[in-house]
Formats: sequence, C-alpha cells, structure tokens
Amino acid sequence: TWTTGNVIEEQVAAIREQVGDKRAICGLSGGVDSAVAAALVQKAIGSQLTCVYVDHGLMRKGETEQVEKDFVAATGVQLKVVDAEERFLDALKGVSDPEQKRKIIGREFIRVFEQAQAEIVAEAEAGEEVAFLVQGTLYPDVVESGGGSGTANIKSHHNVGGLPEDLEFQLVEPLRQLFKDEVRMVGQELGLPDEIVQRQPFPGPGLGIRIVGDVTKERLDLLREADAIAREELTAAGLDRDIWQCPVVLLADVRSVGVQGDGRTYGHPIVLRPVSSEDAMTADWTRMPYDVLAKISTRITNEVADVNRVVLDVTSKPPGTIEWE
Ligand code: XMP
Repeated sequence: TWTTGNVIEEQVAAIREQVGDKRAICGLSGGVDSAVAAALVQKAIGSQLTCVYVDHGLMRKGETEQVEKDFVAATGVQLKVVDAEERFLDALKGVSDPEQKRKIIGREFIRVFEQAQAEIVAEAEAGEEVAFLVQGTLYPDVVESGGGSGTANIKSHHNVGGLPEDLEFQLVEPLRQLFKDEVRMVGQELGLPDEIVQRQPFPGPGLGIRIVGDVTKERLDLLREADAIAREELTAAGLDRDIWQCPVVLLADVRSVGVQGDGRTYGHPIVLRPVSSEDAMTADWTRMPYDVLAKISTRITNEVADVNRVVLDVTSKPPGTIEWE
C-alpha cells in the first residue's frame, strides 16, 4: 500500500544505494519539488549533499530570500547561492521563441551548476567525488516531455528535455513516480514548513516564460511587481488553496490604448491565469470572485508603470496549457 512513510523509506534506501559515499548537488528553485527532493536526499545522505540556488534573475519578488532563509532554517542544509542574473539575461537577449527560451534557460542552468560543482569539488576533502545532480522531476514532467508512456512532446520542461548533451552528472530523481499532492504529503512528513510544502507550482524557467516577447530586466521588474500584487490579493482573499496556481503573464509585444491620470496611455496588458487542477495534466480556469479580480486589476493598473489593462484567461487545459509558453 502507498503511504508517505513507505515512499520516504524506499527512496532513502534507493538514494543511499545510488550515491554511495560520493557527493551530490541539488538545485533549489524555490518551488515545492526541488525543496522536497533536497529534503529527501538530505535525509538519505546528510552532509554529502550541497544545495545550489541559482538566482537567474527570473525569480519572483522575495523568492530568493525565502530559499536563503526559510529552507535553510527548516533543513539545516548546506547552501551555495550563485548570482547569475547577468549571464541569463545575456543568453536570452533578443530571444522571443518559447522553446528557444526554455532550451537556453535549461542549458545555462546546467552550465552554472557545472561551475558550482567545480567550486564544490575544489572545496571537498581529498578523495571525495561530486558525481550526482538531484532533480525534483515529477511524474507529469516525465510524461509531458515524452519520457513516459509514449506521449508526444508538448513542451520541453527545463528539467527533462532541456538537458545539454555534455552533462557531467548522473541524475537522482526521487520524485519521478509522484504527483504533486503526493510530493506535498512527503514534504509534510519530512517536516518542511507549510509555506514551502503548500507553495503553488512555479516553472523552473521562471518569469522568462511569462513574458510573451523577449526578456529584459525592465520587463522582468514590471512583471515581478504585477505578480506580487496578484499573489498578495489572492492570499488576502484566502484563495491559495482553491487555486492551483495563477500565472501572471506580461504581453510585452502588445500595446493598447488607455486613459490614466491626465491623458492617453499606450501600455501593455497583464494576463491573469488562475487555474484549478489536480495534477497540472488538465486544468480548468478558476471561477474567481469578481471583487478579488477587480481589486487585483485596480492595483496593477495603478501601481505598475506601463500597464494599462488587465485581462482574464478563461481557457481550460486542454486546449490551452497552464503557462503561456
Ligand atoms: P503547462 O504549461 O505545460 O504546465 O500546462 C504544467 C505545469 O508545469 C509547470 N511548468 C514547469 N515546471 N519546469 C518546471 O519545473 C518547466 O519547464 C515547466 N513548464 C511548466 C507549470 O507551471 C504547471 O504547473
């Protein structure tokens, strides 16, 4: 029978067997999956694990601090933070094609890890080998990237399809057979705090795939503000548990006419994409209270420069995916 206790016991044994006395690196993304994967591996091999947090500049507001403080406090894990914003923005310069963005972000991600690995190796004791990379890949990621039961490739998830061919690590993927709700239960059982375990999903490529158009620092800052407002109001309205996730998307290549303050504006639309789902394989758009939508819309258009319109995405998955790219 399936219990979180059994899953943990099984995975801990499997991880110990796979890793042996070597060292492992785990990338923390700020999301539930990597946090639970890291906590599982930490339980299995303790100080043989070093977590790496790559700040790719595509994070949401406050996310870096959450990883640096909350996660470390909860697990006591060794954490190395790499500031790679410039490198990612350079690599993404002028790129607007979604699949290309995903591939670039996935590639740069692994390259930064290789650098971090080299540093961790240099710091390791004589005879220690850093040979493993831990990833929080879930069952739906495996299926949707064509690795599961023969399904076509829909999008290359950065942690499955986007791996470069010169990868130097063997992968440890302890969540490969689990769905999201199961991952949350495992995280809870492992003693992770609710703010981490109940966090809504956020894609590895971050806000990079929530800007329709090419990615710039200015656009990211703008989207970060809009996203923070939406999250704040959804939490204030008590909707966090009802809504699976609510991507906030900037249509950077679209402009529309508005009237704000003293005159005409020609700004960008922000899309709200609240969805209800069990496992992200399918989703329905969430029938959110109008007053909450109104509040979010008013605040975003008042507080975020260059945004003069907020629109609601009322598409299910299928036919739409949850993310816009
Ligand atoms: P889609 O857009 O395919 O998203 O309906 C399904 C779920 O996966 C998340 N997502 C990702 N997660 N790396 C991730 O770790 C990715 O590249 C990625 N792309 C999408 C998305 O937020 C949703 O929860």
